[in-house]
Amino acid sequence: MKHRYRLLLASALAFSVMAISSKETATGMDGVIEYEASVLPVLQKKCMSCHGTTTERPFFYDLPIVSRWTRPYVDRKIQTALTSFEILPSFSGAEEETIDEYAAKLRRALQEKRMPPTPYLLLHPDHRLTEEEGQLIVEWATSEEG
Ligand code: HEC
Repeated sequence: MKHRYRLLLASALAFSVMAISSKETATGMDGVIEYEASVLPVLQKKCMSCHGTTTERPFFYDLPIVSRWTRPYVDRKIQTALTSFEILPSFSGAEEETIDEYAAKLRRALQEKRMPPTPYLLLHPDHRLTEEEGQLIVEWATSEEG
């Protein structure tokens, strides 16, 4: 009985150590979630097709005949997306004000669940942000806004 109790205690301890160390990969020394390590990979995976420079286009972009209409539609969307928000690969050299504004835009769009746009999600359901990803980005943005 005593032995079992010790085993239980040991595994509880091991679990809490694991929980602490996994938390440390997402947060920096001062507890601030690091942009490049945690936020950027999510943005690159789920938002880059409209908010970054990529050659990825939807299948209907190259479809014969309909591409006459779909191409300008996609090009225009990406143009609008890029002018209102462009994913920054790093903050080196960026002004404090630029980062603040970037974080604020990101936080608002995600809190209001505006991004990624619903029509896009119908075709790319795997690009929907998970609850955790959304929270992580909003938390990072809030800490960045000060
Ligand atoms: C299908 C293309 C598309 C995808 C994918 C997409 N966006 Fe957007 N995004 C847009 C367009 C178009 C706009 C500009 C018009 C608008 O605000 O609806 C925009 C605007 C924004 C803005 C600026 C809003 C403002 O208030 O100025 C932010 C921030 C943003 N998107 C974040 C994201 C994030 C984060 C993701 C991924 C989780 C994402 N977007 C995925 C098309 C896209």
